[in-house]
Amino acid sequence: MSRSAHPAGPRHADVMPEGHYAAPPADLNALDEKVWARTVSRDTDGVVQVGGIPVTRLAEEFGTPAYFVDETDFRARCRAWADAFGKDADVFYAGKAFLSRAVVRWLKEEGLNLDVCSGGELTTALDAGMPAERIAFHGNNKSAEEIERAVRTGVGRIVLDSFQEIVRVAHIAQSLGKRQKVQIRVTVGVEAHTHEFIATAHEDQKFGIALAGGEAAEAVRRALKLDGLELIGIHSHIGSQIFDTSGFEVAAHRVVGLLKEVRDEHGVELPEIDLGGGLGIAYTSDDDPREPHEIAKALNEIVTRECEAAGLRTPRISVEPGRAIVGPTAFTLYEVGTVKPLAGLRTYVSVDGGMSDNIRTALYDAEYSVALVSRTSDAEPMLSRVVGKHCESGDIVVKDAFLPADIAPGDLIAVPATGAYCRSMASNYNHVLRPPVVAVRDGEARVIVRRETEEDLLRLDVG
Ligand code: LLP
Repeated sequence: MSRSAHPAGPRHADVMPEGHYAAPPADLNALDEKVWARTVSRDTDGVVQVGGIPVTRLAEEFGTPAYFVDETDFRARCRAWADAFGKDADVFYAGKAFLSRAVVRWLKEEGLNLDVCSGGELTTALDAGMPAERIAFHGNNKSAEEIERAVRTGVGRIVLDSFQEIVRVAHIAQSLGKRQKVQIRVTVGVEAHTHEFIATAHEDQKFGIALAGGEAAEAVRRALKLDGLELIGIHSHIGSQIFDTSGFEVAAHRVVGLLKEVRDEHGVELPEIDLGGGLGIAYTSDDDPREPHEIAKALNEIVTRECEAAGLRTPRISVEPGRAIVGPTAFTLYEVGTVKPLAGLRTYVSVDGGMSDNIRTALYDAEYSVALVSRTSDAEPMLSRVVGKHCESGDIVVKDAFLPADIAPGDLIAVPATGAYCRSMASNYNHVLRPPVVAVRDGEARVIVRRETEEDLLRLDVG
C-alpha cells in the first residue's frame, strides 16, 4: 500500500519489522554464533568479549566507534577455503571487501592469493609483501598507468574486461617486452540476487564481455592473436551475497561451453577458469550460508562433469571470496548517545557512528543484527532502530532491531558481520572521522588501521 493511502501518517502496522525482527528473539542476551566472529562470547559477568578481551576494555583503549577483527577467525576461514579447494585450485581473497597491510600478511601466511581492483589495492598488496605472481588485477576501467604498474611488477594475471582493454594490455605488455598472463571476464547471462538467481537473456551492466551473441568468443579470438598476451582462462563473477550454488553451476556450465568452442575453433585448451566470488554470509539468524567445502564440492563436480562431457581436460579452478572470509570476522562497536522513544512507533537509538562507517543499510537496504554488549539485561525487548549521527534521516545502521527496553546512553552496542564492505566503503560524510580497525587475537589487541583524525581531514584540504 502506498504511503499516500494513510493521510493520517504511518500506522503501527506500517512500522512493524519484517523477516528476522518480526518477533523479538527468545533471549536478547544470547549471541547467535552464526553471525558473530568465532571467539566472541559473553563473560561470566555478562560483558561480551572477543579473543579473550572484554569490549568494555576495548572501548576504553581504542574508543568508539571501532571495528574489531577476530584474527583467529579470519585465519581459520582462509584455511577452510584453501583446504576445501585443495592444491589443484586457487583461492583469491577479494581485497575490495577489506584490505590492509596486516590482512595481506595474514593471507600470505595462510597461503591465499589476492584479487585487487585498483592501483591503491595493488600498492597495499605489494607493500605488505604479497608476491606479485599471487595477485590478480581486476577492474572495468583500469588506467594505462595501473596496467603498466601491474605488468611491470609481474602480477600473476590481469582480468580483461572489454575489447579496448585487450588491445591496451597487449600494447603495454609488448612495449615492456613482456607477455602478460590474462583471463577474459565474461558475462554468462546469470544474474544473482541475494537469495535467488535469475537467468537473464540480456546483459545490462558494466562488467565483462557477453557470452551471448558470440562476443566472448570474439574476445578470445582477438586475445589469442596478440603477442603481448598469454590467455590462461575465462573468468565469471555472477554477483554477491549468494546462498545457492545453482547460479555458479549454470555459470560453470556456460564457461565450459566457451572452452569447448575455443578448443574446436583454435585447437587450444585454456587451462584455467575463475568462478569469482559472491558467497553469502549470515547477517541475521535467518541467513544460512554454505560452507566452503560444500561450494568446492559443487563447483568441482560440475566443472569435471561438464569437461568430461565436452572431452576437455579439467581446467584449474579459482574462486574469489571476499565477504565470506572477512565479513563474519568483525563487528562494529558503538556507544549509545541518545534514546528517543516515538510513541506507537519505535525507539530510535543513536550511536556515535552511522552511514559513514556502514553505508550498506542505506545503500542496499541490508539487514544487520545488533546486541547490547557491555552488560546483560532482563528488560523487555523494545522495537528499535539503530541510527547514526549524520545529518540525514536515511542514516540507519540497523533498520529493525529489538534491544532491551532499559538501553541507555553510555551502553555499548555491537553490530556483527561488518568485516566486509563497511570499512572499505566508509566515507567522511559530514567530516565524521573513519573508525579504526583493531585486530584481536589470543588476548592481544592492536590497531591495524588507525582512526582518522581531524588533522587528516585538514591535510587533504589544502585551503
Ligand atoms: N570477484 C569479483 C570480480 C568481484 O567483482 C567481487 C565483488 C568479488 C570477487 C567478491 O565478492 P564477495 O565474495 O565479496 O561477495 N559493496 C557490495 C558488494 C560489491 C561486490 C563487488 N564485487 C556490498 O557491500 O555488498
